[in-house]
Amino acid sequence: MIILSNIHKSYKSAAGKELVLKDLSFSIDKGEYVAIMGSSGAGKSTLMNILGTLERADAGEYLYEDKRIEKMSKGQLTLLRNEKIGFVFQNFQLIPNLSVSQNVLLPLIYNRKWFARKNDRVRKALDLVGLGAKMRQKPHQLSGGQKQRAAIARAIVNEPSLLLADEPTGSLDEENTEYILNIFDELHQKGVTIILITHDLEVAKRAQKIMMLKGGVLREYSV
Ligand SMILES: Nc1ncnc2c1ncn2[C@@H]1O[C@H](COP(=O)(O)OP(=O)(O)OP(=O)(O)O)[C@@H](O)[C@H]1O
Ligand SMILES: [Mg+2]
Repeated sequence: MIILSNIHKSYKSAAGKELVLKDLSFSIDKGEYVAIMGSSGAGKSTLMNILGTLERADAGEYLYEDKRIEKMSKGQLTLLRNEKIGFVFQNFQLIPNLSVSQNVLLPLIYNRKWFARKNDRVRKALDLVGLGAKMRQKPHQLSGGQKQRAAIARAIVNEPSLLLADEPTGSLDEENTEYILNIFDELHQKGVTIILITHDLEVAKRAQKIMMLKGGVLREYSV
């Protein structure tokens, strides 16, 4: 489903050029569930942004369902993300002045498939994460775990075939972590491809495969 080949990505800063991803190659099959670990600053979020087509690599090739991502226009990429990819961003990134249900609705605004049934979809996604009763609240009225669940509802509202989750259990207690990992298990059983970024080995073990990002490359990690 995804094949990354020889990906390079660097950032320029006052301190000079920093090479974050260095000849990185990685592939994931449809329906696979993979965890990515690595120390802070290793480039996990950078990799997620490239996988999610939010950022482009400096060099290398990205194939998504046999399509060359480098060859696609911004508009084509927006469409691809809207229809196929769900994002749980590090630190939630909920829009503060929108209600929970408006936040979850956002990915459907430009979605052709769901637009006519958008309110139904929002309701279903919120029920799935156990937040049906909180749909009218604003993000600041939610607990940390509830915010995380709202972010997950927003990520799955378009029924993505690929779910990219950056530290989705980052600040959660055991109970909420379990709750979210169970939702991921259910999505995996339904055939969703999942890439889960985490610092927590116990969380990573819930995936089928663990990869370690270190020195700009990904290697399989065995526990
Ligand atoms: N937009 C940017 N501009 C400049 N440098 C950046 C940018 N995004 C990331 N970096 C740098 O790239 C490196 C990797 O950052 P990234 O956010 O991918 O790390 P991470 O593995 O997700 O870390 P964490 O576990 O702390 O979230 C860092 O040194 C960071 O400073
Ligand atoms: Mg990060």
